[in-house]
Amino acid sequence: MLLTLFPALYYLLIIFPPNCAFANLNSCRSYCGNITIDYPFGLQNGCGHPGFRDLLFCMNDVLMFHVSSGSYRVLDIDYAYQALTLHDPHMSTCDRIVLGGAGNGFAVEPWREPYMNPAADNVFMLIGCSAESPLFQGFPGKHLPCRNVSGMGCEEYYGCPGWDAVGRKRMGSTYFGSGPPRCCAVPFEAIKAINLTRLQCEGYSSAYNLAPLRVDGPSGWSYGIRVKYSVQGNQEFCGACEATGGTCGYGSDGIRQVCMCGNSNSTSNCDSVSSSRETRPMMAEMFAGLLTYILVWMTRNQL
Ligand SMILES: *[C@@H]1O[C@H](CO)[C@@H](O)[C@H](O)[C@H]1NC(C)=O
Ligand SMILES: *[C@@H]1O[C@H](CO)[C@@H](O)[C@H](O)[C@H]1NC(C)=O
Ligand SMILES: *[C@@H]1O[C@H](CO)[C@@H](O)[C@H](O)[C@H]1NC(C)=O
Ligand SMILES: *[C@@H]1O[C@H](CO)[C@@H](O)[C@H](O)[C@H]1NC(C)=O
Repeated sequence: MLLTLFPALYYLLIIFPPNCAFANLNSCRSYCGNITIDYPFGLQNGCGHPGFRDLLFCMNDVLMFHVSSGSYRVLDIDYAYQALTLHDPHMSTCDRIVLGGAGNGFAVEPWREPYMNPAADNVFMLIGCSAESPLFQGFPGKHLPCRNVSGMGCEEYYGCPGWDAVGRKRMGSTYFGSGPPRCCAVPFEAIKAINLTRLQCEGYSSAYNLAPLRVDGPSGWSYGIRVKYSVQGNQEFCGACEATGGTCGYGSDGIRQVCMCGNSNSTSNCDSVSSSRETRPMMAEMFAGLLTYILVWMTRNQL
């Protein structure tokens, strides 16, 4: 309606779309399948926070997460709770116990450790670990590190149908006698890296529980690795950059944060970039001019 009444407005909108005149489009935000990729993550080199560089890859609409222990499928990114949910196809679940040491476990490069770690309420259940495993060193004199995490542990996990195929009996005859337990549940914090080779385990499972109430039974647990992430360093940088119409990224050194402001990059925000300071008032003037034109046109036609 408005456009038919004001042909001039129509042409000006085509030439200067208001969205582009006042804010740069976020060139880093994207999708992989139905998962939104946004700060601090990025799929393109230079996008996101440097702590999360070379981490996510999108292949045929499947989002992959790559760290030193291997590649995982990303099932979800929860930006509000700052958590990622990962899946390893060689991980045991309630229906299937996978032995043979093919699983990734979970370990990240030391430089990434401040940025991400499995959640405190995520349980790792290590399966078929040798008696010589570092897990059981000092045993039986020392306490085993095995324990329940957020109400999830091996005693209940043994109730899963997957165990029917492999047998749930202990590797030795008695618990504190000649052999370690067949399954040992630990929080990530207790051992820092779930490295099946180093721990001499045949397999593992990982579960988390998002329900506010304790879910009864291992068939109700969610199987996957819940990883908490956090942005370290200058927390205000990205907020200030986006508030001035920029997109957050990092420099070619992979360390420095940069604010991408259209045709130029800034080490702070887009208000400090001279080119954007020049274009903005120019655009504002054009729209002020357009408004004046409309007002004059309306006033003239009413009289
Ligand atoms: C994405 O789609 C899959 C099914 O293709 C669904 O299970 C999942 O919940 C969806 N994830 C999100 C974040 O919408
Ligand atoms: C700005 O930074 C991004 C990310 O590092 C880079 O891809 C781009 O080429 C830079 N642009 C300019 C104009 O320097
Ligand atoms: C796991 O441990 C083995 C043996 O100690 C080591 O060679 C390997 O690099 C470790 N893997 C990771 C991802 O840290
Ligand atoms: C873990 O929880 C189960 C079920 O509630 C309980 O039977 C078991 O004793 C607990 N194990 C440990 C090591 O606390």
